[in-house]
Amino acid sequence: MARLKLGILISGRGSNLQALIDACAAPEFPAEIAIVVSNRPEAGGLDRARQAGIEGVVIDHREFGDRATFERELIAALDQRGVELVCLAGFMRLLTPTFVDRWRDRLINIHPSLLPAFRGLHSDERAIDSGVRFSGCTVHFVRPEMDDGPIVIQAAVPVLPGDDADALSARILEAEHRIYPAAVRLIAEGRARIVDERVVIEGEHAPVGTAFNPPA
Ligand code: GAR
Repeated sequence: MARLKLGILISGRGSNLQALIDACAAPEFPAEIAIVVSNRPEAGGLDRARQAGIEGVVIDHREFGDRATFERELIAALDQRGVELVCLAGFMRLLTPTFVDRWRDRLINIHPSLLPAFRGLHSDERAIDSGVRFSGCTVHFVRPEMDDGPIVIQAAVPVLPGDDADALSARILEAEHRIYPAAVRLIAEGRARIVDERVVIEGEHAPVGTAFNPPA
């Protein structure tokens, strides 16, 4: 079976990109990375792409007069490689509705909170400040509103006594590295369908058990 062609957009260290690179290295994984694009030339993720023998391209937003021209360049790069699913992996630029609509239902994002809670930046700090007992991470299809759109998969991660933002972020990141490849697999296998702006997963089973924090 042909593997789904991914385009990964990054801005930074690229640990989620690495999780996708590692997943795609398995011959039975139903997707492959056609291109990695960074809007920042110094992004560490570009080295990860290089080391994996994947084409990494810099499209520096500062070189373009406006968002529309920057995004046209992005679209051209993705189209030229035959990209079928765009994955935002720590891509820290807001995309315009024009770009989002162009890739509607073929554009996903990972965010370090249990959306719709804590959209936007500094979600770990805000989770701790709010006193929630669980935070987590979400992979979702992208809609024009920031950190909004049909949810594919989430992982709940406990907030523990004494956590600071770095400790919570590190715990959430481990879960991110599991759910991003899992979400891509579901989509690539055609098992995640959007129905009335919710994602229906074919063959979905109830998760094992309920988590309590503190134990109850
Ligand atoms: C990840 O925690 C990702 O969820 C977050 O940026 C980090 C990128 O790390 N994305 C967002 O906050 C998007 N709203 P990485 O470069 O190591 O994958």
